Amino acid sequence: MDNKQITFVVNGLINHAPATDGDMSLIDYLHERVNLTGTKLCCGIGECRACTVATRNNPKAPMEATLACSTPVSSLMGLEIVTVEGLKQGDNILPLQQAFLQHFSFQCGYCTPGFLMATWILLQKLQMSPIPEQDLDAAIEKGVGRNICRCSGYVRYYEAIRELALPLTMEHLS
Ligand code: FES
Ligand code: FES
Repeated sequence: MDNKQITFVVNGLINHAPATDGDMSLIDYLHERVNLTGTKLCCGIGECRACTVATRNNPKAPMEATLACSTPVSSLMGLEIVTVEGLKQGDNILPLQQAFLQHFSFQCGYCTPGFLMATWILLQKLQMSPIPEQDLDAAIEKGVGRNICRCSGYVRYYEAIRELALPLTMEHLS
């Protein structure tokens, strides 16, 4: 193995970053090295979660939210990463994206990639491990509640997310 490279997967494509990129943040790497600019930089200090991407180091594990602004490339060895561009499925938009549109969830849209990723991760976790409906609000809060929207679109985001997540609860699956 070439120990001068940091190898990871972004949206299904293998990246071999040179060790000299190790101090770059993941968001700078995405923007500058692989031209994936959908992940947004806002606070840059790990507070707003606009820069959320999904990562995992085991294909059987659920994806976890990772803040691309405060994650160095040096820590990515062996990780699978999905960015907002990776949610695309052909020419169709996902039900998740459709729900945000139908609920007019976003205004300026700057926070939207972070909300999309956090919600996508939440929905995947619910699919893998359904929960009772009574626990749903807490699960949404845990999954998305720390994402900040400067335009205060929380209510509409929440409505869309709940609509998507409710069918995945135990009562609605049975
Ligand atoms: S830009 Fe990463 S948390 Fe705000
Ligand atoms: S829609 Fe503008 S920051 Fe959320």
